[in-house]
Amino acid sequence: MRILVCKDYNEVSQKAAQMILSQITLKPNCVLGLATGSTPIGMYENLVTMYQQGLVDFSEVQTFNLDEYLSISPTNEQSYHYFMNEYLFNHVNIDKNHIHIPNGMADSMQEECIRYEQLIKDVGGIDIQVLGIGHNAHIGFNEPTINFEKGTHIVELDESTRQANARFFNHIDEVPKYAITMGTGSIFKSRKIMLLATGTSKAQAIHDMVYGKVQPEVPASILQFHHDVVLILDEEAASLLLDGDYKRV
Ligand code: PGA
Repeated sequence: MRILVCKDYNEVSQKAAQMILSQITLKPNCVLGLATGSTPIGMYENLVTMYQQGLVDFSEVQTFNLDEYLSISPTNEQSYHYFMNEYLFNHVNIDKNHIHIPNGMADSMQEECIRYEQLIKDVGGIDIQVLGIGHNAHIGFNEPTINFEKGTHIVELDESTRQANARFFNHIDEVPKYAITMGTGSIFKSRKIMLLATGTSKAQAIHDMVYGKVQPEVPASILQFHHDVVLILDEEAASLLLDGDYKRV
């Protein structure tokens, strides 16, 4: 696990966008695994700027998002479909047929899980997966539980996750209780993983992910076993790590 520590959120965002830019430059038809949440917003803003400057071409890129709430329409402002359009897709030259986000409104959610997992396989897997991390160390919506879920599945959201996400809704009661998410297995199969975290509220989760026992109660801990993971942190998120374990950039 490579750990890079940046001065602040802006630098984390720039660094992350540069890594995506490098990936697309190396492989123009690459498959990106994308995340929502507050953390990657700055990365998306940097990517949009890079696109406007003619530095990056999304025309052959395929994307797979990690997750979506259940029973929220893609046009709802709280949906992750809406988030992705707003922060990235509406502003770059991506082919709309190359955008994949789990459908939280499917008639059969069981079939949707199978379909989504198969689609990732059909395109040859994810080249680089962007992740945030929850305060409870969840990745995607893989909440702490008693076993690592392999494939895309339906999950009941932790109360702490609903509380954390309530800031985007008018009231906690509006926050969905269920979501569809890639499993830790689907994430783990990505060729490269880039996890972003900023702020002191993420320091404990980062500490547990890096030094703790690998266990489903700390979903991100599985990344200790992955051969190509880079964490991009600000100083606050890295504050519980030992000096020699990371590189300042
Ligand atoms: P955040 O969410 O970026 O809004 O903190 C991260 C996550 O829950 O994975």
